[in-house]
Amino acid sequence: MRVGVLMGGESSERSVSLRSGHAVCEAIDELGHEAIAIDPVSLHATLEALQSVDKVFIALHGSLGESGHIQGLLDWLKIPYTGSGLATSALCLNKRRTRQILAQHGFHYANWVVVDRQQSLQAIQSAADAIGYPLVVKPSSQGCSIGVSKVESPAQLEAAVMQAFEYDHDILLEAFISGREYTCGILGDTALPVVQIRSETFFDWTAKFGAQTATYHCPSDLDSDTERAIQQLSLSAFQALGCRGWGRLDVILGDDGQLYPIEMNTSPGMTQRSVYPMASREIGLDFPRTIEQILALATF
Ligand code: DAL
Ligand code: MG
Repeated sequence: MRVGVLMGGESSERSVSLRSGHAVCEAIDELGHEAIAIDPVSLHATLEALQSVDKVFIALHGSLGESGHIQGLLDWLKIPYTGSGLATSALCLNKRRTRQILAQHGFHYANWVVVDRQQSLQAIQSAADAIGYPLVVKPSSQGCSIGVSKVESPAQLEAAVMQAFEYDHDILLEAFISGREYTCGILGDTALPVVQIRSETFFDWTAKFGAQTATYHCPSDLDSDTERAIQQLSLSAFQALGCRGWGRLDVILGDDGQLYPIEMNTSPGMTQRSVYPMASREIGLDFPRTIEQILALATF
């Protein structure tokens, strides 16, 4: 089988996507298939490369690749691809819409509000005051914590907001949830073992990919009831959002005992250091077997 591996792209998560893509290509070769790396920066060249593939593994993260655009193109070309379809991909990349849908399904969120570039700094400050400090500022449609900051006091707000606006016109201000971070991968209709994230500092891009100070642990430190609750929550979110194939929900277990969904990743990181393959290994799937299972669920 010839598998096109879409990787790189033009999003702010390009560098992580290249790392995911290289690992996926290696695994596909190990499985005895032919991997064709496709970096979709030119539409013409991408269409040409796609002519010769039987299936596509989407190893793109962030805008265009994880946002429904590529998925729509592959639907049109009738090439089976991994992961969620157009509408769900677009939905999950938008934190505001994801929160609205999951809140309707009874999921819990800390206080949050969306502000946009049209609003004055004063209006944004009032919105922040209403939420209270510390709070977290996030661009609405980015992954990998790009443009995300924790804001401890009003004096830090303007810089954080300006940074987030570099990535999006809509940004979220959300009350900081004090607690522990976890993430749970979904494969088909199965929730994988939960991975615990330990980070001495705020778990942002630097902790994940820069200084890499965060560490990941699977099995996690959770008792079996809480582990099951996170798996159940992740599977319910996956289904409520209409996800397909595979995905990964990031969750905070608040000090108040409440579970808060943070984001649904429809194209989880698949670098050698990523948490999804760490979790699948716990159920006996090594990296190539994990890729094989995700590919088996590919459709359009
Ligand atoms: N957005 C990155 C790749 C992840 O969450 O896995
Ligand atoms: Mg992400």
